[in-house]
Amino acid sequence: MERTLVLIKPDAVQRRLVGRIIARLEDKGLRLAGLKLLTICRDLAAEHYAAHKGKPFYEPLLKFITSGPLVALVVEGPAAVAAVRKLLGATFGAEAEPGTIRGDLALSNRHNLVHGSDCPAAAEQEIARFFTPAELLDYKMSDNRWVSELLPE
Ligand code: RTP
Ligand code: MG
Repeated sequence: MERTLVLIKPDAVQRRLVGRIIARLEDKGLRLAGLKLLTICRDLAAEHYAAHKGKPFYEPLLKFITSGPLVALVVEGPAAVAAVRKLLGATFGAEAEPGTIRGDLALSNRHNLVHGSDCPAAAEQEIARFFTPAELLDYKMSDNRWVSELLPE
């Protein structure tokens, strides 16, 4: 079973899309392991987007992601990292495929509603950045055996 970090970004909170985005993750069969509403500080944002330091969109990106509350989630499921990235769609809203969260709900490059970890190693680092181990809950979903064929019969 794999875990990944999802951020429902400040634009999605402002556009009242939080419930619909969480519903898309649940509809896919992912299990919620952690969830919180918070406004992140510049240091946390800079750490999270360190790979983009020096790029022209870096400063506006930090300003955007720290501009108001966001929802941080850890979701779990088989191949969750790749599954979530597909569900989010391409980075730029106008290019994202219909049927994806960005494709259906976003047009902007920067205000693209959601973040998902891009590989399992990044997911592990990002989860530790946003959640303490005690904030991540382990519990069984009653439909496990239908949602994931990885579980024992
Ligand atoms: P994210 O990290 O937020 O999940 O997005 P991503 O992997 O799909 O895209 P990434 O390349 O990591 O870019 C991080 C965020 O920076 C903003 N961005 N703006 N040219 C631009 O104006 C530009 N390029 C990237 C987006 O908000 C993107 O999600
Ligand atoms: Mg990224």
